[in-house]
Amino acid sequence: MKENLNIGLVGYGFMGRTHSNAFCQAGRFFDVPYRPVLKAVCARNADRAKAFAENWGYESVETDWRRLVERQDIDLIDIASPNDTHAEIAIASARAGKKVLCEKPLGRNAAESEKIVEAADAARVPNMVWYNYRRVPAVVLLKHLIDEGRFGRIFHYRAKFLQDWTISKDLPQGGEALWRLDAAVAGSGVTGDLLAHTIDTALWLNGAITEVTAMTETFIKERKHNLTGRIEPVRIDDASAFLCRFQNGSLATFEATRYARGHKALYTLEINGELASALWDLHDLHRIQFFDHRDEGRLRGWRSIHVTDGDHPYMKRWWVPGLQIGYEHTFIHQFADFLQALGEQGEASPSFRDALATDYVTDSVLKSAKTAKWEKVPFSQVTRA
Ligand SMILES: NC(=O)c1ccc[n+]([C@@H]2O[C@H](COP(=O)([O-])OP(=O)(O)OC[C@H]3O[C@@H](n4cnc5c(N)ncnc54)[C@H](O)[C@@H]3O)[C@@H](O)[C@H]2O)c1
Repeated sequence: MKENLNIGLVGYGFMGRTHSNAFCQAGRFFDVPYRPVLKAVCARNADRAKAFAENWGYESVETDWRRLVERQDIDLIDIASPNDTHAEIAIASARAGKKVLCEKPLGRNAAESEKIVEAADAARVPNMVWYNYRRVPAVVLLKHLIDEGRFGRIFHYRAKFLQDWTISKDLPQGGEALWRLDAAVAGSGVTGDLLAHTIDTALWLNGAITEVTAMTETFIKERKHNLTGRIEPVRIDDASAFLCRFQNGSLATFEATRYARGHKALYTLEINGELASALWDLHDLHRIQFFDHRDEGRLRGWRSIHVTDGDHPYMKRWWVPGLQIGYEHTFIHQFADFLQALGEQGEASPSFRDALATDYVTDSVLKSAKTAKWEKVPFSQVTRA
């Protein structure tokens, strides 16, 4: 009989749904050492929280996260609420001895994330941040190919995350639906939201980033604020791009925007090495394009690998070879990996400390955009003691 793991979820929005689905499915498809129990969901609107609880099978509802954290029958707090809530809830949860999962970015900036890491380290509680793109089977395959040395020396890393949903100047900022446009809540714009994903994947695949030079732009300077009803300055970055150097000597370009008309969530990454190159695209997430210079010359060319076979990462747990899985599965994989690590008393990745490394890079990007200079990234501070 597996031990129960009682979960308290904060936030029932987009991520509340992906996480709840993962809690329900992980044990059905993966051999995990715990039985997740959906004990309580917390959000400020009691009626909507109740409806969410009924739909997903949560046993109870709270309207104040402090009450959730105090509850003795909760083992794990999962934070799926906006960025300005992460630090307070994560620190209180760690101090209460709860295991803590938190959405990305960990804090609104590295200073906030450092406090979260300190609290989790002091309490020695298992923790993880939901940088879910590390759990796309095709991206994991890429990681294996890099670690096997198939690319040789890596020269270039290139990543983009493009959206188009804030182009209208009539879109307001702030409030429940548009907190991402409010810097006080979000911390930053696309840098902390979209670039953070591309940076987390890059640090995982290609190692530490040492220095960056960046530019950001806020195309629409003023918007009506949903909470005050007034026209207010927009303080988030609408677009952000940077050049950087990795510790392994490779050069990189990163770009994120919410102003690329026609693109809804186009996350792409490319790696060029001495021996091989690879491309991955979120719109075709189960494929990698791979070019191996060591192939016989006459047959050399780009291969399109459909990462759905039984010997591909995670795939033998799903349907039959050739059948695809999707976005929601990345959260199921991540939660299954967390439970596995918990059972082995190991550390799940990315941990809070791993996520802090991303925040050092995003902080450096925002700083460089202001100073118009190259900025060193204090990556050495995140090395585990
Ligand atoms: N991993 C990913 O790919 C990914 C994707 C989207 C969002 N996110 C992150 O997930 C987090 C939530 O984003 P979302 O898109 O789900 O937002 P959302 O607006 O859809 O949902 C946020 C939820 O938090 C609740 N909430 C707000 N303040 C609260 C409080 N004080 N106490 C309790 N509940 C509160 C809201 O009622 C809502 O249910 C953010 O940090 C975001 O950056 C990550």
